[in-house]
Amino acid sequence: MNTIRLRGPATSANVGPGYDIFAMALKEPFDEMLLELTNDQRITIGFDGDDQNIPLNVEDNTAGLAILELKKRYKPDLGVKVTITKHMTSGCGLGTTGASASSAIYGLNKLLNLNLTDNELVDLARMGEIASGGSPHADNVAAAMLGGFILIKDYHPIDVLKLRMPEFPVVLAVIKKSQRTTRGFITYEIGQEKLKEQMAHCSRVIHAIHTQDVEEFGRAISVDHIAEPVRSAVIENYKETKAKVIAAGAYGSTVSGGGSSVITICSANMQDEIADIMEHGLKANANFVKIIKTTTSNQGVCEML
Ligand code: HSE
Repeated sequence: MNTIRLRGPATSANVGPGYDIFAMALKEPFDEMLLELTNDQRITIGFDGDDQNIPLNVEDNTAGLAILELKKRYKPDLGVKVTITKHMTSGCGLGTTGASASSAIYGLNKLLNLNLTDNELVDLARMGEIASGGSPHADNVAAAMLGGFILIKDYHPIDVLKLRMPEFPVVLAVIKKSQRTTRGFITYEIGQEKLKEQMAHCSRVIHAIHTQDVEEFGRAISVDHIAEPVRSAVIENYKETKAKVIAAGAYGSTVSGGGSSVITICSANMQDEIADIMEHGLKANANFVKIIKTTTSNQGVCEML
């Protein structure tokens, strides 16, 4: 087998209080990737359709950088042509860069029969994230690779745990961030009281998944003192809209990943109403793209047959 076509899902990282340690996969949207092994020992990146100004240079592209790492560690003579078909808008905190890196590594593991473990796959894919946000955070790539809810148990060495989760409704307000990354503005200096609350809410998130309690999950993800204050500061009407969706009966709402998209959890019969409130509240943002109604998903990257 010399070619493989993959589907890499959107992911929502941090999931409220779990900065860099929690993420979950979403059913929609997703990107496609075609990998073709070549004999020329080169890595080339191309797009089928709109490239959204994503870098073609291998070192600047998350899939390219992850493949370079795989080549260095496991297959020095590797040659591969990568063709990405974008269905997702990049730069919105929906893990599109992680989906590319994970698809590339998942696909090459299959094509080259490397038989890498989940942790080895995630460790390679996360190196691609350096091309995007400057840091090898593993949350998005792990959720894209494995699906479900991801807990990064350890970064030294990387150790990830996939928890199967109920596939419950979510509404996304897709908003592009106005700068490449805001990671540099995030601080862990939040004080004892907020730190206690943060840890308590991380524990609540995990407990809610174990007990399959979507309402508790929503409440737990709605408190974050680390990433949300930084990312929400640039989202017009964020606080008001969050308060409105909760008052209307949504279970919880937070900023998705690095922003500026907003993710809300609700029951299936409330999804349309919540989508309307979010669109009305957030469409004034200059970089507002669209509303997406989808669900969480236990499916990670998969081969398209
Ligand atoms: N945990 C990462 C961050 C995810 O918040 O920067 C980026 O999507």
